[in-house]
Amino acid sequence: MLEITTLSELTIDGKLSLGPGASSKDLFAFYGDDLRAWFHEQRALHDAIMVGAGTVRSDDPELTVRYAEGRDPLRVVPASMGALPLDSRLLNDGRPTLVAVCDLAPDEVVAALRAKPTVEVVRCGEDRVDLAALMALLHSRGIRTLIAEGGSRLLHSLFEAQMVSRIVIKHIPVISGAADAPTFLRAGDGASALSLSRWRLTDWFIKSGVGVSVYRPLQVAG
Ligand SMILES: NC(=O)c1ccc[n+]([C@@H]2O[C@H](COP(=O)([O-])OP(=O)(O)OC[C@H]3O[C@@H](n4cnc5c(N)ncnc54)[C@H](OP(=O)(O)O)[C@@H]3O)[C@@H](O)[C@H]2O)c1
Repeated sequence: MLEITTLSELTIDGKLSLGPGASSKDLFAFYGDDLRAWFHEQRALHDAIMVGAGTVRSDDPELTVRYAEGRDPLRVVPASMGALPLDSRLLNDGRPTLVAVCDLAPDEVVAALRAKPTVEVVRCGEDRVDLAALMALLHSRGIRTLIAEGGSRLLHSLFEAQMVSRIVIKHIPVISGAADAPTFLRAGDGASALSLSRWRLTDWFIKSGVGVSVYRPLQVAG
């Protein structure tokens, strides 16, 4: 089984970015080099890194290890119809990216992604990416740890499927004030509401003026 960690930056008002359509990269302005290096070390400790297609469309992230020593994790993006901008950084920087699409993804879209020399496309799921099947595929390739950096819908799906074994939150000390900015979790189309799950705080520290908290599932004695 894959060990899945979510790693997110959250504002005081629980937002993943400063406004709708804004990039989470705007939050980088509110912390310093120590936290950035620690954050990139976390990436280097994992075999794979995942964001949803929405984050690629809004943030155009690189998802590489740049502010710490270490190897880049394999980048994995679930994009059911393959709808990723073809000029996205992670499709063009010469480093491997695995894009997971579903059976309904148009052949021409898949072909355009496959034309990128370091992009692999796998079909996984009927009408949207089946995350359990995708994780099983990654496991069969030797991937044992994965860090999921968001956004709201991907995180919701991972919690819905009870796949997450560790939550890391960087508490960015700002209030976005934007009621419609994305929150930590958002149910996408077809997703069911989450039921209560309890977590225990296993570590907490301050880096570059930002609180970092780490949670593991609470095992309730039965
Ligand atoms: N603060 C942070 O730590 C942080 C980190 C990352 C992102 N963000 C923010 O999060 C926001 C983006 O969140 P988002 O919810 O729009 O996008 P998202 O969670 O990154 O991506 C969701 C998309 O992934 C695709 N997908 C395919 N299979 C899926 C599945 N089984 N479950 C869930 N998604 C699946 C779907 O797009 P298709 O329909 O195209 O398949 C879905 O709409 C942005 O504002 C970004 O800045 C913040």
